[in-house]
Amino acid sequence: MTLMLNVDWRSLPNAPAAGTPLCALGELAPGEIREFSFPGDSGATPLFRLIVYRDGDQVNAYVNQCPHHWLPMNRSDGVFLRWSHTELMCSHHSAVFNLAGNGECTMGPCQGSNLTRVPLQVSEGQIRIRTGD
Ligand code: FES
Repeated sequence: MTLMLNVDWRSLPNAPAAGTPLCALGELAPGEIREFSFPGDSGATPLFRLIVYRDGDQVNAYVNQCPHHWLPMNRSDGVFLRWSHTELMCSHHSAVFNLAGNGECTMGPCQGSNLTRVPLQVSEGQIRIRTGD
């Protein structure tokens, strides 16, 4: 059974503040998936884990929390399973998510649900958590 919840990412523990810089756009290769965790590598828990995906000049971000069992989706640190160029497969029960769209699950045990999107902005070549949301 899949719970269909609307999660406000800003209410999750250790959510980054609006305007928080992530990296330069040029540091992400087209098609790359990279995880950022907050508060960084300080060892504090629980970490807020963010997936950033670059699709051309578009950059999308989602909370790294599968809506099937609310687990991080990577296999190990920084290692994500790919289903296609634009799709990520959760390493637990193989749900597939479209990172180029709105993070919807297109196949698997939570089909029809969505990853929680975190709005970004790119200005002067820098990717940041969007302000004003
Ligand atoms: S936790 Fe992701 S598919 Fe089950």
